[in-house]
Amino acid sequence: MPSLREALIELVRGAGQVVMGYFRRLKESEIGHKGKINLVTEADLKAEEFIAGYIRERFPDHSIVGEEGAKEQGSSDFLWLVDPLDGTTNFAHGFPIFAISVGLMRRDEVVLGAVYDPVHDELFIAERGAGALLNGRPIRVSPEEELERALLATGFPYDVHESEEDNLDFFAAFMHRAQAIRRAGSAAIDLCYVACGRFDGFWELKLYPWDVAAGWVIVEEAGGVVTDLSGGPLDLWHPNPLAANPTLHGKMAEVIAGVRRARTG
Ligand code: IPD
Ligand code: CA
Ligand code: CA
Repeated sequence: MPSLREALIELVRGAGQVVMGYFRRLKESEIGHKGKINLVTEADLKAEEFIAGYIRERFPDHSIVGEEGAKEQGSSDFLWLVDPLDGTTNFAHGFPIFAISVGLMRRDEVVLGAVYDPVHDELFIAERGAGALLNGRPIRVSPEEELERALLATGFPYDVHESEEDNLDFFAAFMHRAQAIRRAGSAAIDLCYVACGRFDGFWELKLYPWDVAAGWVIVEEAGGVVTDLSGGPLDLWHPNPLAANPTLHGKMAEVIAGVRRARTG
């Protein structure tokens, strides 16, 4: 029986191979819609099938929740949160930013997480209390303390065409304060890039547990702070995350609070 950590590495790398078999080779018939602008491809489905099968075989008493519907209710304290392909829109367009993101919870806490970017062969992994690694090397959040010098990341929810809560006012406020903002299209990679200092901060609304579970523990183990947008504890089941180093985190929370005050006042 592999250790949980070994198993996690094997399953994200294995799923990486599965999705790369489809990358830039997807047929029209292999792309479907879950919503107006929310895609699902054969690669998402096959990668989740691979991951869920791997966990069921080796850890039959563990629970599983996967974005594409994998569900298992086990008798143990362990729950795997699986995003088999984070960045499906990018993937479907041949844009090479996407990842496999898997977090493992024990009772109420994410204890282990891995994000694997198969295009760049980058594996981010963290275990609670044991630090965060990128391809085996320890990583840290950036030391940047000034918003004016910060490269930030964000994303937009799939209901952006319909909902008024669309992130555009936060985006405008940060655009006027930060050095620049990127919308790379994979929340899991955004979090990992905060963890290794490529991005200085990240915020987003209306994410799902599988988008953030792994990245959350990776950022915290790299010395970063992850909260909800108000600076309170992140609700893993309805995540609106704000992640950065401790100083920038406070400054970003102030910008967000300012936008919210402007909305009501
Ligand atoms: C999406 C990506 C994207 C974010 C969306 C997510 P998916 O995940 O992480 O960056 O902006 O909100 O839903 O659908 O590609 O797994
Ligand atoms: Ca996702
Ligand atoms: Ca996904």
